[in-house]
Amino acid sequence: MDNSGKNREHWQSRAGFILAAAGSAIGLGNIWRFPYMTGEHGGAAFILIYLIAVLLLGYPLLVNEMALGRKAQSDPVGIFKRLAPQSPWWLTGALAVFTGFFILSYYAVVAGWSFAYIYKVVLAAASPGMDHALAFREHISSVVEPIVWQGLFVVLTVAIIAAGVVNGIQRWSTILMPVLFVLLLVLIVRSITLPGAGEGLVYYLKPDFGKVTGRTVLAALSQAFFSLSIGMGAILTYGSYLRKKDEITGSAAWVAGLDTGIALLAGLALFPAIFALGFEPGAGPGLAFITLPAVFAKMPLGGFFGVLFFFLLGIAALTSAISLLEVVTAWLIDEKGWSRRRAAVCMGIAVFIVGIPASLGYSLLKGFSFPGLGMDMLDTYDWISNSIFLPLGGILTAVFTGYVWGGTRAAREVGRGRKASSIVKIWVWLIRYVVPVLIIVIMAVGIYDTFVR
Ligand code: TRP
Repeated sequence: MDNSGKNREHWQSRAGFILAAAGSAIGLGNIWRFPYMTGEHGGAAFILIYLIAVLLLGYPLLVNEMALGRKAQSDPVGIFKRLAPQSPWWLTGALAVFTGFFILSYYAVVAGWSFAYIYKVVLAAASPGMDHALAFREHISSVVEPIVWQGLFVVLTVAIIAAGVVNGIQRWSTILMPVLFVLLLVLIVRSITLPGAGEGLVYYLKPDFGKVTGRTVLAALSQAFFSLSIGMGAILTYGSYLRKKDEITGSAAWVAGLDTGIALLAGLALFPAIFALGFEPGAGPGLAFITLPAVFAKMPLGGFFGVLFFFLLGIAALTSAISLLEVVTAWLIDEKGWSRRRAAVCMGIAVFIVGIPASLGYSLLKGFSFPGLGMDMLDTYDWISNSIFLPLGGILTAVFTGYVWGGTRAAREVGRGRKASSIVKIWVWLIRYVVPVLIIVIMAVGIYDTFVR
């Protein structure tokens, strides 16, 4: 608990923090999850609801987590212990640590697929006659291979976290994020210049509200939380490496803006190509991994663009996975006095083991699903963490800040170093009255729709 003084590492600049936080936010959520959720939930109408969720719930919670972290200079459990000693609020931090661990376990499975595909696409390009969709389905549904790639990805993540906040997280985020941006632009140009791309653009940009239900709204909410990395302590933890003099509202706006921008750009890279080459947008989690390889196979220079895409996906996944592992690591360092290296390695092993069933959901555990959910294992991990744990974490954080820590104190902390106070006033109001209530309503309706549909 006393790791917060001079010993605690801090981001070296404002840009370093923004890039690290954006690196956490921008990940599989933007490039894999956002497009398939958009495809499943009716295109532009979903996007509109998503944007409202980011503005009304996502941004305020982003500010909230940064402020709590900067104030308490501790891991998620320590933050609540410091600001509300002798109360059960530390359990909110514990829930956050647990959720981060859980998300990372299946995140590594999907990230493993992307790395495996980099070399698979090359192989595929070398054998023109093969059925690509089938070949890629076979990768996901084999037993050992995806687990090996999942393990390799965890090793990479552990290596960066073991190197520390500045030399690991900040350094690699600063190098990898610009690379990601350039790759994405190249892909967009390719996609929208394919003949017949227009139909995809229409689907992507023209809302159809006929498909919107309670499930859609819960899906948009969970997507906003997942994509912004909020609700499970990642931003709390990154916020705790801020110096007292660092400002927050502007940095949070950068992070939310970059994250949303990259998600929208990823859709722009995918949908025109999917439509132009005659595929279905509603393919679900397989959209990037089964549909896209087939799309690349039909596209001029598809092998090249395929490698580019999966490389992009792998980089984005890596800078996010490190933020997930950092939460558990920070907890072990700050609360249990472990060394950084030991914490990262032990948690890496545990995360790997817990993730294995998510990988086996397409092979040994195929067809198994929990009653009422009707989802494969990976989707089940995803649904539980993103539709239940993240919103729950969001509610608890907002209620804690607005009523326990207190609106006045929170406002003073957020407003530190700012001249205009109107944005801080709106923020407190959102955190006290809008965020908790809206999340509860959306969760209730969405869960009802899921089980009683
Ligand atoms: N935001 C990341 C993505 O979009 C995933 C992620 C990283 C995350 N850290 C998180 C999600 C914390 C929820 C909470 O891929």
